[in-house]
Parts: sequence; C-alpha cells; structure tokens
Amino acid sequence: MKSYTYHTATETAHALIKHLIGMMGREPDKIFYFAFSGGSTPSLMFDIWANEYKKVTPWKRMRIYWVDERCVPAEDSESNYGTMRRLLLDQVGMPEEFVFPILGKCPPEAEAKRYSTLVCSTVPLWRGFPAFDAVLLGAGDDGHTSSIFPGQEHLLSSFHPYEMSVNPYNGQKRIAMTGSLLFTARKLIFFITGKNKAEVVRDILDSGDTGPAAYVAHHAENVELFLDAQAGGK
Ligand code: 6PG
Repeated sequence: MKSYTYHTATETAHALIKHLIGMMGREPDKIFYFAFSGGSTPSLMFDIWANEYKKVTPWKRMRIYWVDERCVPAEDSESNYGTMRRLLLDQVGMPEEFVFPILGKCPPEAEAKRYSTLVCSTVPLWRGFPAFDAVLLGAGDDGHTSSIFPGQEHLLSSFHPYEMSVNPYNGQKRIAMTGSLLFTARKLIFFITGKNKAEVVRDILDSGDTGPAAYVAHHAENVELFLDAQAGGK
C-alpha cells in the first residue's frame, strides 16, 4: 500500500490527476479502463481536471465506468454519473461511446445484473476476471467504500460483480461494485480528504479489519492512497 499526502485537497486532486495522466502516458498505445466513485470528494478533481488538464489528457484512450451509483435518475443532483458528466465529461467532449453509466433510474436488482454483464463483456480480463486498470475509491467517515456500508461486508465476497446495497442512513438504494471486481482490479486508488476522514484513514493504514474501506485496502494487491493533510492526520 503506497500513501501520498499533500497539504490541501486541491493539491491532492492535482497530484491524482497527474498520476492518472502519467499512467496513460507510459503506455501510449493502451486503452485504459477506469471506474470512478461518486460523492463530494471526486467533484473537486473533476472540476480541476476539466479546467486545467483538458488538453493534456488522452480522453479517447479512456473508458469510463462507475464503482457505484445511487438509484436516482441521472438528472438528480445525487447521481454520480450526472455529477461527473456535468463537471467533467461534457466539459471535455468525452465521446458517449466511451462512457458506461450505471442506470440509476432502473430497478436496482435488474440494473446490477445488467451492469455486471456489461462490465464482464467490455472490460478486458486479467487472470480470468474483468480487471479495471484503476478503480478510484472514496471512503465514508463510517468506513464504507463503493457503497458497501458497515454490516454489508458480505458484498466483499460476492461473486456478482455488482449488487444492490442500501445506504443505512436514509434507505437509499445503490448499485455497488463488489469484492469480485475490487480485488481483481490492477490498481485501487483511494482519494480521501478532510479531517472527518482521519479516523477511517488511520483504520486503513493501521488495522485492515475495521470497516469495508480498511478491509479492501488491506486485502487488495495494489493500493494507493491519495490524502490531504487533514485526512492523513497531519
Ligand atoms: C458514493 C460514493 C461513496 C463515497 C464515500 C465518500 O456514491 O457516495 O461512491 O462510496 O466514496 O461516501 O464520499 P464523500 O467523498 O462525499 O465523502
């Protein structure tokens, strides 16, 4: 597990964007399959990416998927797809055919199955499983990640690539990437900022069995943490 800490969330976002662009620059003939999480943290990165790195990003060599989605229409402010489309994808003219949203408006169980089939048929296999080049994760202050909340750890050992989960705080249904894809990704990148995340980051760095985010970080092969000083407890 590699950890990188920067003074501010903005600096951390810049570093992560440059890291992803660098990954793609080192393999100039490769198509990169990325899965993004939602929530508020990535919004800062999307905004900076669109405004400051548009010309230096090989957009056409990227395939955009989601880690998780709230079961709401894309127009809803809660939509992870809607947020990324508004802040980044529309701003940089990302071709539709390279973007594979989870359809939040569809019945959750059916959509989890549809999206699982889509990912299995479009993301290249590695060791027999669809393997994203990078899965970008956040972490809730309760220790959840990929919309897998504490108490829903069975999703970490599910054979279904995506399953429905439920936000226990408001009952909102979600579609969540399960352990079967999290643990076969070539790289997991946690992007965590803010002092309210310091405890979950300590769990991730020190223990590994307290909460889904810590468990994933400790049981995946190639994990990188991009943190600001507040989340890093500095
Ligand atoms: C979501 C996210 C979720 C997120 C954490 C952190 O759909 O909410 O994918 O798993 O990563 O909740 O969210 P914040 O960045 O808003 O703190």
